[in-house]
Amino acid sequence: MYQAPSDRIVEILHREPASDPIGVYGWVRSRRDSKAGVSFIDLSDGSCLQGLQIVVPSDLENYSEVLERAVLGASIRVTGQLVASQGRGQAVEVQASEVAIIGDCDPEHFPIQKQHTSLEHLRSIPHLRIRTRTFQAIMRIRSYLAHSVHSFFASQGFAWVHTPIITASDCEGAGAMFRVSTLDADQPPRNEQGNIDWSQDFFGREAWLTVSGQLEGETYACGLGRVYTFGPTFRAENSNTSRHLSEFWMIEPEMAFCDLDGNRHLAGAFLRSVIGNTLQACEDDITFLERQLPSARGLRRNLDVIANKDLRHITYDEAIERLIASGKSFEFPVHWGIDLQAEHERFLVDTVFKGPVAVTNYPKEIKAFYMRLDDNHRTVAAMDVLVPRMGELIGGAQREDRLDILRQRLHESGLDPEAYTDYLDLRRFGSVPHAGFGLGFERLVCLVTGASNIRDVIPYPRTPGHCP
Ligand code: 4AD
Ligand code: MG
Repeated sequence: MYQAPSDRIVEILHREPASDPIGVYGWVRSRRDSKAGVSFIDLSDGSCLQGLQIVVPSDLENYSEVLERAVLGASIRVTGQLVASQGRGQAVEVQASEVAIIGDCDPEHFPIQKQHTSLEHLRSIPHLRIRTRTFQAIMRIRSYLAHSVHSFFASQGFAWVHTPIITASDCEGAGAMFRVSTLDADQPPRNEQGNIDWSQDFFGREAWLTVSGQLEGETYACGLGRVYTFGPTFRAENSNTSRHLSEFWMIEPEMAFCDLDGNRHLAGAFLRSVIGNTLQACEDDITFLERQLPSARGLRRNLDVIANKDLRHITYDEAIERLIASGKSFEFPVHWGIDLQAEHERFLVDTVFKGPVAVTNYPKEIKAFYMRLDDNHRTVAAMDVLVPRMGELIGGAQREDRLDILRQRLHESGLDPEAYTDYLDLRRFGSVPHAGFGLGFERLVCLVTGASNIRDVIPYPRTPGHCP
């Protein structure tokens, strides 16, 4: 078993007072020196929201050193005894018998100060913002959510597949791609026509970073039955919004012998499970963020609704009718065939359903070639799940499993069937109805933490023009 160097504060806080000495490491969050000749240190080690109160008596051998060096941000090691606390706010505290300074922190230059530091400012110091309670709370929730995602799929019999990050398929249609190349950017080799000769590149052909693991996920679903991917995804779109990242993590389940209804029920069960679990396990952090972030008002109540209610459902046709019947004047006028804009999605989520909703069966013209054509030949078996504040959280579909129709759809979309022979093989050899979706993990973290900007829920955000 892993031998930890010391006890973690999250565990210590739940213990009964005891006479055995304990050792604890952490960073000073604040220090208060009382006139009565004792100092109180609020010590944090990142393991939980609450700090551990350290009581330092003035007769400690190096008390003057503690006063000088145990300042905000400094790292220390404390040895002492766990006793019942006299003060309010904590059941136990540590009566220190030894305080050793491990790392000094220059209070004048430490960019994280006690007074409220704006999220904008903290975004410029991603390596230090994790020293704040806000980012520790967000990142603990992020980590717990990731574990819940894996637990959910494991409990439902899904195999986790690791689809490639480098891909040679350039036209999944999901978004603009980042090129992966080792050619000399100043002097790339050229062919007789004067074009860049990609056959001399690392893979002997052009390659990119993946925009989605879906196509590979489908091949594995057609062998393992139920699979999911959970990994980094890259989009080179110039979208500078609070909901877009150039590098984000996507969760993509894919199920054989499954139709659009099954897909929607999986999405509903997934959201209820991961949000319900996180709401319980991360209660302190969520409660803290609800108070801390203006965008997180009503957070627990909203999450409670998602965790306990069935996912609502509306077809695209009905959604358009609702939008028109509302009589509201939208910036983008509503008529059948439009792609839903953020203002339309907001109206459906905030006003009509007052919570998440799955919108299905969109016009084929505005959705990808691989979505199964409905019998009406107007719409496809698409599904988007819209949620408060973030808009689209999930995009998915039942896939086209009929070879001739898929060929026709590729053709209509101006794509070369030659580039999709593997994909078409699935429809040649034991084709099955199958369905899946993609969920943007950071949008889920925004939903659960109440954060309003997606740059605040990933450790090192990459966005257009920004990769420090
Ligand atoms: O709707 P999208 O583009 O769907 C796909 O890529 C499908 N191949 C998924 C599938 O069926 N397996 O992306 C899926 C989700 C979106 O709903 C959104 O939550 C998230 O991925 N997403 C982004 N998140 C952050 N930054 C971006 N630039 C994102 N683009 C998409
Ligand atoms: Mg989408």
